[in-house]
Amino acid sequence: MIKKAILPVAGLGTRFLPASKSIPKEMVTVVDRPAIEYVVREAVEAGIEQIILVTHSSKASIENYFDRNFELETTLEQKQKWDLLAEIRQIVPEHVSIVSVRQPQPLGLGHAVLCAKSLIGDEPFAVLLPDVLVKSQTEQNDLAQMAARYQQVQAAQIMVEAVPDHLVDQYGIVDVNTVPVEGQSIVMQGIIEKPAVGTAPSNLSVVGRYILPAKIMQLLQQTPKGAGNEIQLTDAIAMLQQTDAVEAYRMSGVTFDCGSKLGYLKAVLHYAVEHPKLGEKFIELIQELKL
Ligand code: G1P
Repeated sequence: MIKKAILPVAGLGTRFLPASKSIPKEMVTVVDRPAIEYVVREAVEAGIEQIILVTHSSKASIENYFDRNFELETTLEQKQKWDLLAEIRQIVPEHVSIVSVRQPQPLGLGHAVLCAKSLIGDEPFAVLLPDVLVKSQTEQNDLAQMAARYQQVQAAQIMVEAVPDHLVDQYGIVDVNTVPVEGQSIVMQGIIEKPAVGTAPSNLSVVGRYILPAKIMQLLQQTPKGAGNEIQLTDAIAMLQQTDAVEAYRMSGVTFDCGSKLGYLKAVLHYAVEHPKLGEKFIELIQELKL
């Protein structure tokens, strides 16, 4: 079983300024909770029991959010606000632990993942990039399906979705002989980080969800700086693929790139209309706008 997930949260979020100037971009609210809670929930739904935050000194509010807050809980108890109390206590289920390590220098995503090496040990693990929210369309979410597939075939799983050809230079792109149908995996022939438009092997982009063997850590230690002069996870995966089968898993859910302002607004809209308490009133608000 895949029990551990790495969430790299050390990035400074320049694409989300000014909102991210004094709060982490991961703490920006999507409806009534910080964006990162959706990502943690996705991991927990896929069976993850330990979340490893790879973080930065300016981001303590993320750790605080997932910790208990004794003073707040006592106050809510005294005021008999039982619903609120239950809600803040249920942010992370009891069987899930949240731990953190620091990424001391911004040397890239591959380096961030490597910072969690000692916590991973010999186990396969998941990586979830918290800029992207993945909304499931199926009972078992995409990450859970990737984890199940890993157990079955022991091949790394890289979640992908199709993007318009002019956007391939913003993502890792995989090379496959046949495009898998949604919810299916296929062995990939290669992977490249942010290829120039017109040179990409496909339009299947890496979404930011991975199931990887522990071996990737050794490969990351040998990975030279790549695109953007950073140590790229994509380059270590390309190395892994020289010796081991690596599969591209085509997701069936929907993604929202909360690293971009429009992607973030889209996420707010989608999660708000489906919110169990606010959804109906929110739809009325949108209708009032009469755009
Ligand atoms: C990272 C990965 C890239 C992936 C993308 C998804 O890039 O390196 O392969 O496609 O996340 O959001 P970044 O967006 O951090 O530049």
